[in-house]
Amino acid sequence: MRKILVTGANRGIGLAMVREFLATGEFVLAVARHPERSGELRQIREGDYGDRLKIYAGDLASEESLQSLAREITSFPGQLDTLVNNAGVFPEEGTEPFGDLDLGHLETAWQVNVRGTLRLTQLLLPLLGKGHSPTIVNVSSGAASISTKDHSRQYCYGLTKAALNHFTRGLAAELRSGGITVVAISPGWVRTDMGGDQAEITAEESAQAMVRTTGKLTLAQSGEFLDRHGKTGVYAW
Ligand SMILES: NC(=O)c1ccc[n+]([C@@H]2O[C@H](COP(=O)([O-])OP(=O)(O)OC[C@H]3O[C@@H](n4cnc5c(N)ncnc54)[C@H](OP(=O)(O)O)[C@@H]3O)[C@@H](O)[C@H]2O)c1
Repeated sequence: MRKILVTGANRGIGLAMVREFLATGEFVLAVARHPERSGELRQIREGDYGDRLKIYAGDLASEESLQSLAREITSFPGQLDTLVNNAGVFPEEGTEPFGDLDLGHLETAWQVNVRGTLRLTQLLLPLLGKGHSPTIVNVSSGAASISTKDHSRQYCYGLTKAALNHFTRGLAAELRSGGITVVAISPGWVRTDMGGDQAEITAEESAQAMVRTTGKLTLAQSGEFLDRHGKTGVYAW
């Protein structure tokens, strides 16, 4: 049984990944900004897999909250095998021309998608260092791609996901010798609050594929930008 931490675990893809990891027999640390408001997580804890689920509070936009989360997690002896950096925000409309763009959205997106994600990863690295085939999965997006950026706006969101990919590649290089695998995975276009009703797949479909891919990752794939099925080349850098 692997010990897996998922951020943004209270809804959308994160919640579906929690369900899927539990169904495949893993132990899950579910991190949510307001866990007390998440009926779904509480329901899972009261169900069949509840003894393999721990729920934590963690706000990626707050240094204090991240430090307290890391303290709580590291106070238990043991290791962390997989960190799924799933929580994210898409604060802009995504269709506004650059001239009309509120750059405050960049700060909002940066705080969560980049700063908070990097900081949590930094705080949990010692635990991952003790993990079994440790893996960091950064949930990225097709919007991260620079070489195919010839169609859409999404400036703030895209910039932060491109930064997350940059981080993925750099950290993979640094941690390879220590046996830690780091990848960026795009979940697809998913019907969630962020993806909207018109998206192609359900959160369950995305999560099933991502959980399967996460379970099969090897160090040879470290530094790659994968689709949810684990394929390279579907999303261009
Ligand atoms: N849906 C898609 O089509 C799609 C496509 C490509 C990539 N992605 C990526 O997939 C990931 C999950 O997206 P989703 O579609 O499931 O989005 P979502 O339904 O909007 O859920 C976002 C999750 O992130 C959490 N979050 C936001 N700000 C946070 C903060 N400051 N601290 C902690 N958690 C925070 C939310 O918690 P609260 O409930 O507290 O706000 C929520 O659990 C994101 O990284 C997203 O960029 C999604």
